[in-house]
Amino acid sequence: MAATCVIGLQWGDEAKGKLVDLLAPRHDVVVRYQGGANAGHTVVSGKEVYKLHHVPSGILSSNITNVIAPGVVIEPNMLIKELEGLEGRGINPRRNLMISDRAHVVMPWHMLEDRAINKTVVSGESIGTTNRGIGPCYRDKVGRTHAMRMADLISPNLPDRIREIVDSKRVLLSSIASPEDMAELDAGRITELCQRWATSLGPMIKDTTYFLHDQLDAGKKLLMEGAQGSLLDIDHGTYPFVTSSNASGVGVCSGSGVPPRWIDRMIGVAKAYSTRVGGGPFPTELLDETGQKIREIGREYGTTTGRPRRCGWFDAVAVRYTARLSGANYLSLMMLDVLSYFDELKVCVAYELDGERTDRLPSQADALRRCKPIYETLPGWSKDVSYVRSLDQFPANARRYIDRISELISVPVGVLSVGPDREQTIFLI
Ligand code: IMP
Repeated sequence: MAATCVIGLQWGDEAKGKLVDLLAPRHDVVVRYQGGANAGHTVVSGKEVYKLHHVPSGILSSNITNVIAPGVVIEPNMLIKELEGLEGRGINPRRNLMISDRAHVVMPWHMLEDRAINKTVVSGESIGTTNRGIGPCYRDKVGRTHAMRMADLISPNLPDRIREIVDSKRVLLSSIASPEDMAELDAGRITELCQRWATSLGPMIKDTTYFLHDQLDAGKKLLMEGAQGSLLDIDHGTYPFVTSSNASGVGVCSGSGVPPRWIDRMIGVAKAYSTRVGGGPFPTELLDETGQKIREIGREYGTTTGRPRRCGWFDAVAVRYTARLSGANYLSLMMLDVLSYFDELKVCVAYELDGERTDRLPSQADALRRCKPIYETLPGWSKDVSYVRSLDQFPANARRYIDRISELISVPVGVLSVGPDREQTIFLI
């Protein structure tokens, strides 16, 4: 095995962090390769709980190298806070963390821009971003003229570069930014800020692409940690209600610089139900007491923003699509314990779109919004499964539910999770 990937198959928050944390000790390097501080993952070690945004989940093991690869957009203030938080608890993350010199920097103007345009209505609704400057930073990356990479922070040309960009941004943003926000766009102050970032992060900024190639040549094992989920993929998700990176399996190679031939295992992660944060179509959303019950039992509130997550039944149409898109060869089905006390459970097996039945996810948000779920009803198991530690301990109805989902999405089950703790995990691979 050279590289294993952990990819979300829904709209993010599938509990990928727990799986990465469990798999990390079997690997030499853990790689974050897309997204940025919009992601939030929780790593639990004994009684300690760590909330991370940029730092890969292998950071607690000193013998694992953690890489923030070129496809990530980094907000240095937040990254430094994460590192200081770990240091305050006796961990030294700087000795086993590498940051790509090619990764882009989320600058103060990106945060400002995200805040200023977040409420813009697109296709009938606002996207509801995390306000972390993600979209504006990726926009500048693609536009090139106003981009800042980690290498720029440690370049002698930094003051000139900042001045050029700030001059131009002041003109571009004057019509959307508040006077207070405009006052923040000061080239001198921003240069000083960048110099502080460079002092703190500079020693970790490296060419991670060569490093990963050398590791692969040396027979080391890589674990690729996806952020968000495949339905939020910029090219293949529920556009425009997506994030600005390739959050499905197709993004692993472009974001990390690891070529496809090294990838041998794709673990697709899905919750046993569905959740979504922010705007956008969600055919199986439950706006009733059942949705509320899932939210409360599953503690479905955002790690990054604290927003209540929208909750609904498992959507096998959407996950069948993302499992194919991401090339999942195993399913990791999470949060089964949350469904312990329901009389019956529904799984969406097809949609009705404009009077026709379809088992395909429409490519257009407007069409997806018109889709009505066609459900199959399965009996609940009315028993707490958080104590289950092996496949044969599941109640028969829970086995039926798991098997049916696996059958509907045509992916074998590799991992089952029945709670947040490490031991509440059943590995079949
Ligand atoms: P952005 O990534 O902040 O631009 O937000 C775009 C959309 O993706 C919004 O609907 C967010 O709620 C959603 N999103 C971004 N990151 C995450 C995540 O880590 N989990 C769940 N949803 C996310």
